[in-house]
Amino acid sequence: MMIDLLRTRRSIRRFTARPLDRETIDLFAEALLRSPSSRGINPWEFIFATEKPMLEKLSHAKVCHAEFLAGAALAVVILGNEETSDVWIEDCSIAAIIVQLLATDLGLGSCWAQLRNRPHDATISAEAYVRQLLGIPEHLRVGMIIGVGYPGETKMPLPSGKLDFNKIHQDRYRPRTSVERAYS
Ligand SMILES: Cc1cc2nc3c(=O)[nH]c(=O)nc-3n(C[C@H](O)[C@H](O)[C@H](O)COP(=O)(O)O)c2cc1C
Repeated sequence: MMIDLLRTRRSIRRFTARPLDRETIDLFAEALLRSPSSRGINPWEFIFATEKPMLEKLSHAKVCHAEFLAGAALAVVILGNEETSDVWIEDCSIAAIIVQLLATDLGLGSCWAQLRNRPHDATISAEAYVRQLLGIPEHLRVGMIIGVGYPGETKMPLPSGKLDFNKIHQDRYRPRTSVERAYS
């Protein structure tokens, strides 16, 4: 059941050294190419990085919060063509979550590293750093990288009690009153 997958998915930032086999990597390729996109334009392209020195370099794409890429078995770099689609960000984000859900389904861990709108250092963006590192042409934007690997940490599912059902509105937007907030 899809809901079981959603219940167990967590961001995993520690991985074992076990590599992914070819068949598993091919499943990610197929899943990505089956991603829905606006008007079926498929404005994305993907780089699969598996070599340790490159994963290490990708982990330095931004000042912090990308370190986990160094320990991943696979980094899926998600690129979007902004010349062919005005909603490439949405399309790339869908592809990214498909990688994460497939990883969970396969018993793998994954985590998203945001690159768009993030600095590498005071002089260049994370996107520019990765563009140079991987030889990405100018017409493709670099959205995010999803690190995937065998989990080296265990995380509990988010308990149902922590879900904020106040964010769900029935039929029309209904702001909560201060009384409701006080008693929730
Ligand atoms: C758009 C987006 C950007 C994110 N960027 C990062 C990131 O750069 N580094 C990181 O470690 N986690 C990143 N995450 C993972 C979130 O921190 C994580 O999903 C959130 O804390 C909830 O935890 P969970 O995924 O375990 O439920 C990102 C997630 C999303 C959806």
